[in-house]
Amino acid sequence: MKQRMKWLAAIAVALIMLFAAACSNGSNSGGGGTTQTSGGGGGGGSQAKDKIVLGFAQVGAESGWRTANTDSIKQAAADAGIELKFSDAQQKQENQIKAIRSFIQQKVDVIAFSPVVESGWETVLQEAKEAGIPVVLTDRAIDSDDESLYTAFIGSDFVEEGRRAGRWLLEQFKDATEPVNIVELQGTTGSAPANDRKAGFEEIIKENPNLKIIASQTGDFTRAKGKEVMQSFLQAHPDIDVLYAHNDDMGLGAIQAIEAAGLVPGKDIIIITVDAVRDGMQAAADGKINFIVECNPLLGPQLMDIVKDIVAGKEVPKRIAVEEGTFTSEEAKAALPNRKY
Ligand code: AHR
Repeated sequence: MKQRMKWLAAIAVALIMLFAAACSNGSNSGGGGTTQTSGGGGGGGSQAKDKIVLGFAQVGAESGWRTANTDSIKQAAADAGIELKFSDAQQKQENQIKAIRSFIQQKVDVIAFSPVVESGWETVLQEAKEAGIPVVLTDRAIDSDDESLYTAFIGSDFVEEGRRAGRWLLEQFKDATEPVNIVELQGTTGSAPANDRKAGFEEIIKENPNLKIIASQTGDFTRAKGKEVMQSFLQAHPDIDVLYAHNDDMGLGAIQAIEAAGLVPGKDIIIITVDAVRDGMQAAADGKINFIVECNPLLGPQLMDIVKDIVAGKEVPKRIAVEEGTFTSEEAKAALPNRKY
């Protein structure tokens, strides 16, 4: 009888173990966007406990900056031996939320993401918190007051970027006695860089009442939209002096519209952009963009360091800033040969 009981107990334990293994294999789908896994041994979730598993929900592929950012994250994960589950949300918040939920289900060690927009993250981040999975924000912040929803934020100071653009313009037109007509191409509506770059720029230019934003519209951070919106600005306003574009790609699209209208970018219309990716720097070196505020996309190595520290149980800083500069046309010409992205 005792022998039979022992056998039954052994069979029960084996069945429980089989069931647990089947559950932990889970689903590997990343929600509405596209998901890839790299650097792993082919297993799902954090099965291979010797390897850290990072789920990263990217904004999309809207700009040269974003491509450089994605490349930096993938390369840094491979260099650090971290298994990366990468999801592209195609600029849609609902896709990012689905991806984060999928990472929670797969029990990754850490979730990182660059929020498409600032608001609407509390519910899903609360779910990650309850599952005990630390979250790192990269590039863009969220506007929640509850700082317990994320462990760290690595990224630029977008308000300061806007101020830098404004300070340069203020200096250029310090002796102006006539109105200076500015048009603004905003980034994705509701995103941190669009809100903050606008706020920082306005804060500075209000010091000179001659500097006036006569039109401001989103170009969604893309070249195609930048061109389209600039065409409509040019039709509605024959007297544009300055274009302030929240990124290089929209500025480059706008340059096409300006040239098609028979005007000379950089001369007939002064152009300021943000990012300093290679194409933008080339346009600056060619004199088509007058001033670029840098936004550094190479966040991968810093992110992997933070992920390793979090998994090791170390204290990490809540806010990790990124060093950035600015470029005039001359400075862009000098920097271009060594530009990495
Ligand atoms: O969040 C960073 C911004 O997003 C970059 O300035 C822009 O090019 C990108 O799309």
